[in-house]
Formats: sequence, structure tokens, C-alpha cells
Amino acid sequence: MSIQEISLNDLNPTEFIEAQCRLISKQVGKSKAVNALSGGVDSSVTTLLAHRALEDRLLTYFIDNGLMREGEPEFVVSGMKQLGVQVELVDARQEFFSALKGKTDPEEKRQAITDTFYKNVFGRLVKESGAAYLLQGTIYTDVEETVAGIKRQHNILAQLGIDTKAAYGYTVIEPLIRLRKSGVRAIGKALGMPKDMYHRVPFPGPALGARVIGEATPKRIALVRKATVVVEDVLSAIDAFQYMAILHEDRVTGIRDGKREYGFQIEIRCWDSRDAVTASPTQISFELLRKMADRITSEVPGVVSVTYNITPKPPSTIEAL
Ligand code: XMP
Repeated sequence: MSIQEISLNDLNPTEFIEAQCRLISKQVGKSKAVNALSGGVDSSVTTLLAHRALEDRLLTYFIDNGLMREGEPEFVVSGMKQLGVQVELVDARQEFFSALKGKTDPEEKRQAITDTFYKNVFGRLVKESGAAYLLQGTIYTDVEETVAGIKRQHNILAQLGIDTKAAYGYTVIEPLIRLRKSGVRAIGKALGMPKDMYHRVPFPGPALGARVIGEATPKRIALVRKATVVVEDVLSAIDAFQYMAILHEDRVTGIRDGKREYGFQIEIRCWDSRDAVTASPTQISFELLRKMADRITSEVPGVVSVTYNITPKPPSTIEAL
């Protein structure tokens, strides 16, 4: 891999910010850049960095792909507004669900999300705005796992030999590509971001699409979204790297109100990790685990089984897909 990592120890946030602002401004020149904000730590830091470098030459979009968490589009747009960044919300829910229809293979689902995002939605936005560049928050870990063939992270393009100019009509700028998550957080802090934004729990590009095993239909996404509300509500009180709810494809026999119910299974994962390269399951108290199980089985219709993953990464990965 030809990209040189900058470790947290070697990172000087002030110098990094100044250097990246100069580079971004020089590359974009008098043109415009479109910015893909997902609301995660990496894309939020990229947004503030690029906003500082480009001001009104930057057009920031938040794509509602239908796979977001409860209330996420409104939360992200208003959070950025408070930091002085105007964000346009684009409703692309139908487009993503059509692309995902009938797909059950994890890598095919990731590919469908990537194509819809870069080719269709951003291809169109870039063309309409007359921009020549797309800014995005790819980080070192994303490249590493994709190049190693573990998972195709949705935001990896050039490193897979994709010429974005030829394929999509724009050049991609990735200012954070030499950093890992801890470095990205240090940059967010130095940019004056509130802690709840630079310290936000990581969330994957393919969003809840990566947390539904099997077909990601609007109904199944709505189900895992409801379970996610419970898991995030209960686990935000503990200091873990990341936590999530996953909807399984297999159903199991349960019993409710004295009747058989062939229902859904939700798996909870919660991780301790420094940089997502390796991770271990958090030792959650049995009381908290039971609390989540009780709430999920009563608040999420049709769920009759809740499990907790106790496998470290490796051999597990953090997300299920
Ligand atoms: P895995 O599941 O590979 O996840 O152990 C490592 C970290 O990366 C996040 N993740 C993604 N982030 N695009 C992203 O921007 C993706 O396609 C993607 N897939 C996984 C995951 O949430 C974890 O923090």
C-alpha cells in the first residue's frame, strides 16, 4: 500500500489542518467541490476541514439513503448548521432500495450501495453543480481492509484501481486518508468541533444496510432501526468503541401471549477497540443485557430472540457484513 500512515504520536493537528487546507484550496482552485457528509466522525471532520479551506466553493450534501438511524438526517443537518456549514438534504431513499432489491450477498449489497452513491446520486449532483471534485472522509483503516480483501469499504475507489474521473466524472479528494480514527478525532477537536461530534460512535458508510443479514428491504431496515434506538439508548452510558443491533435472516420459534410466534432474531454487538483493526467484546453487565433484551422484544414488533456476540475481531469483524 503506497499511502503512508500518520500515527497519532506523529500527528501535529494544527500543522495538519493548515497543510490540508492549503492543499485542498490549491487543488480545487476556482472550481467547486461537492462534499459527501454522512454524519459519521470521518465525514464530519472532512466537512469542517474543507469548509475552512473552501468556504462557499464547497457544496455539502447529506444523502438520505433510507438506511440511516432514527432522526439522523435532521440531527446531522442541524449540528452542522450550528457550526456554520449549510447542508442540503437529498432524498434518495427510493433509489437505494431499488438497487438493493433482491440482493442478499454482503459484497453485492455493498457494491449496489457504492454504485448508487457514486455513479447515480453524486454523478448527478456533481454534474448539476458544475463541480469537478468530490470530498470524502476515507481513512487509513478503510483502505487497509479493502486492499486486504476483507471487506469492500464503500468509499474505496482509487486504491482499487477505479479512475473516478473516467467512471463518475469527478476527482475524489481524501484529506484524512493517512489517519486512523484516533487521529481523525484529534483533528476534529483541533477544528473546534463539539466532543459529542468528534467522539461519536463510528457508523459504517453502508449504514443499516450493513446490519441486516439478507435482503435490506424498507421493512427489515425499519426493524433494525428500532432495535438500534434501544441499543444506543442503553449503551451510550458505557464507554465502548462501538455498539450495534443486527437483524438476522433466520427466524426462530418463540412464544408470546401463550401463542407460538415464529419471530425475528436480533444480535447485539458492543466493542472495545482503539482503532477498529482488532476489537474485543465489551464485558457488559448481565443487567444491561437483560434490559436490552426486554426492551427490544417489547418495543420491536416480531422479535422473539436477542443474543450478544462474544467473539473478538479477528476472527469476527465489527460489522456483520
Ligand atoms: P469491520 O466490520 O470491517 O469494521 O471490522 C471496521 C470499522 O469500519 C467501519 N466500517 C465502515 N466504514 N465504510 C465506512 O466508512 C464502510 O463500508 C464500512 N464498513 C465497516 C465499522 O463500523 C468499524 O468501525
